[in-house]
Amino acid sequence: TPSSIQILRGEMLDFADGLRHWPDGLLLIRNGRIEALGHASDLLPQIAPDQLVESFTGLLLPGFIDTHIHYPQTGIIASHGEQLLDWLNRYTFPREMAFANPQLAAEEANFFLDQLARNGTTTAVVYPTVHPVSVDALCNAAQARHQTILTGKVMMDRFAPPELLDTPDSAYHDSKALIERWHGQGRLKYVLTPRFAPTSSPEQLTRVGQLRREHPEVYLQTHLSENLKEVAWVKELYPKAKDYLDVYDHYGLLGERSLFGHCIHLSDREWQQMAASGSVIAFCPTSNLFLGSGLFDLERCHREQIRLSLATDVGGGTSFSLLTTLGEAYKVARLQGADLNPQQAFYQITLGNARALGLEQQIGSLEPGKYADLVLLDTAATPLLNKRCQLAETLEEKLFALMFLGGEQAIAATWVAGQRLYARKTV
Ligand code: GUN
Ligand code: ZN
Repeated sequence: TPSSIQILRGEMLDFADGLRHWPDGLLLIRNGRIEALGHASDLLPQIAPDQLVESFTGLLLPGFIDTHIHYPQTGIIASHGEQLLDWLNRYTFPREMAFANPQLAAEEANFFLDQLARNGTTTAVVYPTVHPVSVDALCNAAQARHQTILTGKVMMDRFAPPELLDTPDSAYHDSKALIERWHGQGRLKYVLTPRFAPTSSPEQLTRVGQLRREHPEVYLQTHLSENLKEVAWVKELYPKAKDYLDVYDHYGLLGERSLFGHCIHLSDREWQQMAASGSVIAFCPTSNLFLGSGLFDLERCHREQIRLSLATDVGGGTSFSLLTTLGEAYKVARLQGADLNPQQAFYQITLGNARALGLEQQIGSLEPGKYADLVLLDTAATPLLNKRCQLAETLEEKLFALMFLGGEQAIAATWVAGQRLYARKTV
């Protein structure tokens, strides 16, 4: 196939070296990857006169990265009442049962990836359900979009409806087959996914540890210390463990490719072990507030130098938008006397999250060689956002306003590997 070149012209920024800004930038994309980036005045002389240059209005950024989200919970987002454990039993588990059906799973996977695109999210780390077909459905849909999706079969062998349970053995064999089928296929990555300590027996966690040793190339994700009742339950179920994190450590599940969702109620020892092991936290503010789980200690996370990522956690989280998620993260920081400035904020959902996944060579900024995963933000998307941005004196002020007034409406277009997956309809 002949190589394809696309050229985009307009205002661009990324966070590769602090805030980098091209008020009139030119981005050259060849075969889905960024080939060059610079000021239009510098690069235009090198462009053949017959080459099409697509001009846009708005702010072009690297696509957003979501490090913790549940695709089967799309349909139960915003379900009233209950904290974590009751919410799981009342809403989440009944819905997840439907994903045994491959046709339903395929439809939901496509709807889910469309939701990511219309929110400017180009990469996500995703929980499916316990059913291998739910993984196949998501991976097939992601493949068709040439998208980086990290996912892997949920493992749970107790304390859920029987339709959602696997066994230590079936979890091992099914995960192994899925790793072979999907890890490294196109841009896909496999993630070992024991749901959380309560729903995995010691025998199952032993098998997860075995998978991890046999496949050091794959990731691992789970939940950690989200809710006080959950923490007390883990203490009952694993009485010999020092604490919640020690359960996972006992089975060899910590490390640089391990992502732990929430981490709200950690002990001093757990904070230190998170740091020492190089494990990554997924901070999910809309979920933590919605489920009344608690306030994540962002300041402590920085102080302990723990690797941080930011995530939506839909359907415990209430928005697919990482802009909205940043706004809620800011409020959580404020409540604790801490800050989250716009530059740190937009760094986090782009290059910061890419680094948390060890994928900074491929995604997270507009640097040449990376995939052309892009989002176009419209600072005039609504009358109010427009008014606020008109009065803004700096780019940082506009970015900050987008965190509170932007949301889904501010996403004008989204590209994955140079292909436009979403363009907002303008009436
Ligand atoms: N802990 C175990 N499972 C889940 C889940 O699906 N969502 C959240 N927020 N926490 C969990
Ligand atoms: Zn979750």
